[in-house]
Amino acid sequence: MSATDCNVVVLISGSGGNLQALIDSITHDGSPARIAAVISNRADAFGLERAKHAGIATQVLDHKQFEGREAFDAALVEAIDAFNPQLVVLAGFMRILTPGFVRHYVGRLLNIHPSLLPKYKGLHTHQRALDAGDSEHGCSVHFVSEELDGGPLVVQAVVPVQSDDSPTSLAQRVHQQEHVIYPLAVRWFAEGRLQLTAQGAMLDEQLLPSTGQLIRT
Ligand code: GAR
Repeated sequence: MSATDCNVVVLISGSGGNLQALIDSITHDGSPARIAAVISNRADAFGLERAKHAGIATQVLDHKQFEGREAFDAALVEAIDAFNPQLVVLAGFMRILTPGFVRHYVGRLLNIHPSLLPKYKGLHTHQRALDAGDSEHGCSVHFVSEELDGGPLVVQAVVPVQSDDSPTSLAQRVHQQEHVIYPLAVRWFAEGRLQLTAQGAMLDEQLLPSTGQLIRT
């Protein structure tokens, strides 16, 4: 790692598609982000294999081994901080975080969510967008606040809904955009261009709009 690199810890629970997109962007696009470790709360998360394949340190911290959220999050903070990250990236980490955890990483904790937030926080976002008859769906990267899937938006990709979309076909197109906007946001942060301030998320010293940067596909 060079003096200008940005040390990142990625938290996952599953397939790690977003993790792979981050790995690929660092390898091919010259991003100054460096993934120091990937930590999963599930031992069977396929993302762990992706990390190992890329030569990245992995760790499993099984939440079921802890008595409650506070104890798990305290152990998680300890595991993360052992890698001295400047940025912590939630990439399909399917755990509700305690306020203490979020406060500890304020301004250096990013999440990706498969909807145009503030719409459809939580699960089954693609089905919910279809049920509502939305003409547009998408995904969002945001700084994490204490509210589930909340916090100032950094970037959103808008994906048009097609009349014959199923939750699966729509999810597939949203995932493609996730793999574009998450590496972009992490790169902005690693380059020192993205910050969280009391006014909101700022990119290149300009306050971002409430939607974050909007990308239309
Ligand atoms: C992604 O679609 C991500 O947006 C979502 O989990 C999936 C993980 O996929 N995250 C959330 O719903 C967070 N609330 P991946 O493991 O292939 O990156």
